[in-house]
Amino acid sequence: MKLTPSDRLQTLQTQYFAGLESHISTLKAAGKKVIRLDIGSPDMPPARHILEALWQSVQRADVHGYQPHRGSKALLEAWSRMYQQRYQVDLDPDQDIVPLLGSKEGIFHLTQAFVNPGDVVLIPNPGYLTYESAARFAGGQPYFMPLSAERGYLPDLNAIPREVAERAKIMWLNYPNNPTAAVASKSFFQQAVNFARQNQIILCHDAAYSQVTYDGYQSPSILQADDAKDVCIEFNTLSKSHNMAGWRVGVAVGNPALLKNLYTLKTQLDSSHFKPILDAAVVAMTADQSWLEERNQIYQRRRDQIIKALNDIGLYPNTPKASLYVWSPIPAGWTSETFCQALLDDIQVSLTPGTVFGKYGEGYVRICVCADEEIIREAMQRLQIWMGKQ
Ligand SMILES: Cc1ncc(COP(=O)(O)O)c(C=O)c1O
Repeated sequence: MKLTPSDRLQTLQTQYFAGLESHISTLKAAGKKVIRLDIGSPDMPPARHILEALWQSVQRADVHGYQPHRGSKALLEAWSRMYQQRYQVDLDPDQDIVPLLGSKEGIFHLTQAFVNPGDVVLIPNPGYLTYESAARFAGGQPYFMPLSAERGYLPDLNAIPREVAERAKIMWLNYPNNPTAAVASKSFFQQAVNFARQNQIILCHDAAYSQVTYDGYQSPSILQADDAKDVCIEFNTLSKSHNMAGWRVGVAVGNPALLKNLYTLKTQLDSSHFKPILDAAVVAMTADQSWLEERNQIYQRRRDQIIKALNDIGLYPNTPKASLYVWSPIPAGWTSETFCQALLDDIQVSLTPGTVFGKYGEGYVRICVCADEEIIREAMQRLQIWMGKQ
């Protein structure tokens, strides 16, 4: 009995993509050419000047030790400047910003810092998986807010029962959204902030895709809403914005008193980043940002390719304004899971079933734009031929 894991750990399962990877390795070992449009990991490298900055820094003798828990002052200032320039939001680098080893870590740990057993956590469904696993690990009770096409994938805040709102400690929002690719307006953020203030709920906004946008769209920050700083924390990251997913550079910004608790927990867990990563992240954020627009145009062309192919086979997904995903309805006669399984087995195209993100994802698949146009063309051709045979 003593060798069993904690009750807390037993609330978790190995994450979906870990299982998928072993299935795909088996197919590859059997000589199959699998096309992966499932996971949201940028396929292109960061800009050259970011790599140069890393290389310059790593050669110094004084960058290899532990760093202060708050990372580098220059990086905190870079986040502050970015929020001022992009959103006209003022952030005090000393109090309103906590650096993270990727935003996933912060999302998980913020929940541990605030949720007691039995507390409710309000979670969008479909939604990014870490909100739920973090809540369960803390002994919290997820309450799922359905996201539907009819409501533009925004939760209906009026549908949350009063007693649930009273017991809720945290509400999660995420726009541009994973997996639905929906976006939210400033006025929706204002409604959410009002709701959170009325009910004394910590409103966490996950802005992981805020700089991956198309057709001139600009994604707002929740901190632009009036009085947002009373209750809000926003999570941000260089993973998707700067093609730096493996570098693990994220941030939590917003209410300083709330952030202080996250910081206390983190001082017990990690010892900041490798200094050359901090140095290169500063360069990533302060150098000319025009390459991001060029990169977004590449994603936009891939998006258009996918949308056209899906329209040609009669699936008609929405055209996303942001994020790395197309959220597509599936043909009649399938579930999200059976459809993805059949595509993987029959034509070796890997998409993510909508239900991986929760039961309200049924009827959809998530298709990622992180593969070059040649590869996407081949995947869509395989799909079109396969659909013609069904
Ligand atoms: C909605 C959302 N939030 C957060 C993350 C985590 O990003 P990172 O930990 O790389 O900053 C992801 C990654 O896929 C995501 O999709």
